[in-house]
Amino acid sequence: MQVIRQHFEIINSTNTWAKQYATDFARNAMTLVTADEQTAGRGRYNRHWVSPPYQNVYASFCFFEEKLTPAIGNIPQVLALSAVAALETLSFQLKLKWPNDILLNGKKLGGILCETTQCHDAICVIIGIGININMPLQDLQKISLPATSLFAETGKQFDVQQVISTLQDTFVQKLQLFKKEGFKPFLAEYRNFIAYSGQSISFHDNRQVWKGCLYSIQDDGSMNLQLDSGEIKNFIAGEILW
Ligand code: BTN
Repeated sequence: MQVIRQHFEIINSTNTWAKQYATDFARNAMTLVTADEQTAGRGRYNRHWVSPPYQNVYASFCFFEEKLTPAIGNIPQVLALSAVAALETLSFQLKLKWPNDILLNGKKLGGILCETTQCHDAICVIIGIGININMPLQDLQKISLPATSLFAETGKQFDVQQVISTLQDTFVQKLQLFKKEGFKPFLAEYRNFIAYSGQSISFHDNRQVWKGCLYSIQDDGSMNLQLDSGEIKNFIAGEILW
């Protein structure tokens, strides 16, 4: 798949920009919107995503689908696996906090925000990823959850553009496989990278907090939680609390 790159030195948010201009994007290609800095970076649940200049990956992969299907929910998981694979080439071993937070040494290294917008007769999928690469500790401390960067963990600087380029290649490849064969070929790998398996967690399903044990990942990528009562509850969205 051809990738058309749109790069900005500074932008409000690569996802917000992509949403605004999605109707202009080529239908048969992927548009990759990247920025050196975001002034209004957005995270899940309307949170702010700290996006200082020239330190991190801020990227939105955009492509078209004919219609909204439940399988679109797996695409952020495929991107998360692509990030894990891209950073493995730099010898990092990451974990995923269901559904698609990227963890390094138990702290949040990156996150994914997946949005869709209707463009005439097609749906544009806009899947934004932020990965903290060279962010120093003093900036990480502004984040209200345990966050980290490759630099904070190693004391070494990494090439942000190189990470974007490896991530792009990996994601294009994995997305092609996903479109052909669905989530099945990714399941074993995805389950393998899931953090807190069999452990006690608190989970917010956008309505209430549930406590239980992370029991399993279903074939469709959803999560089963075993409540303290023994009942097993299935979730397709939500967030494991820190
Ligand atoms: C999360 O809350 O974990 C998701 C964070 C997603 C951040 C990325 S940075 C690039 C893209 N543009 C945004 O405004 N957000 C996403």
